[in-house]
Amino acid sequence: VDIRRLGPGDAEAVQAAGHLFDAPPTDRWSNQFLDRDGHHLLVAYEQGVPAGFVSGVEITHPDKGTEVLLYELGVDEEFRRRGIGRALVQALLDLAVDVGATNVWVPVDADNEVAIATYRSAGFDEPEPTGILNRAVGDDR
Ligand SMILES: CC(C)(COP(=O)(O)OP(=O)(O)OC[C@H]1O[C@@H](n2cnc3c(N)ncnc32)[C@H](O)[C@@H]1OP(=O)(O)O)[C@@H](O)C(=O)NCCC(=O)NCCS
Repeated sequence: VDIRRLGPGDAEAVQAAGHLFDAPPTDRWSNQFLDRDGHHLLVAYEQGVPAGFVSGVEITHPDKGTEVLLYELGVDEEFRRRGIGRALVQALLDLAVDVGATNVWVPVDADNEVAIATYRSAGFDEPEPTGILNRAVGDDR
């Protein structure tokens, strides 16, 4: 699998991966996302076909440094159970390390066992009672 980090000017690539999103992405919102600092979109391709994506947003707080919210993760049904979801999560973790983040966190529905299995396999802690899973990635205090 080939994981590509999209950036400014890549709205066409977002459209090409549009079927992976909950709703069709618009060019305006795609460009806003791609142009904004701390907004990350990684797309996985299998032989050139968009197979999955992960998005993440940096959030900085005085006592916590920069954390990355794993906003969405999705793999097209026909490409599931091949390690793509895990590879996408790992790619976002690597990016979080690169930007000097301290933690990556994701809210997950308690009954989404597959998502929880995917995050656990990428080293996240057990879900908190709030449904949030954390993965410490650094401490650049
Ligand atoms: C969650 C999702 C992204 C996983 O993608 P995937 O490419 O199939 O996941 P992977 O093949 O990388 O599997 C990751 C781990 O989860 C486990 N897993 C994946 N699907 C599973 C299933 N149906 N049943 C049990 N375990 C499963 C794998 O065994 C693997 O664990 P391992 O590394 O210890 O072997 C995908 O199922 C999906 O898009 N679901 C719908 C959207 C969603 O729920 N997103 C998360 C929102 S928080």
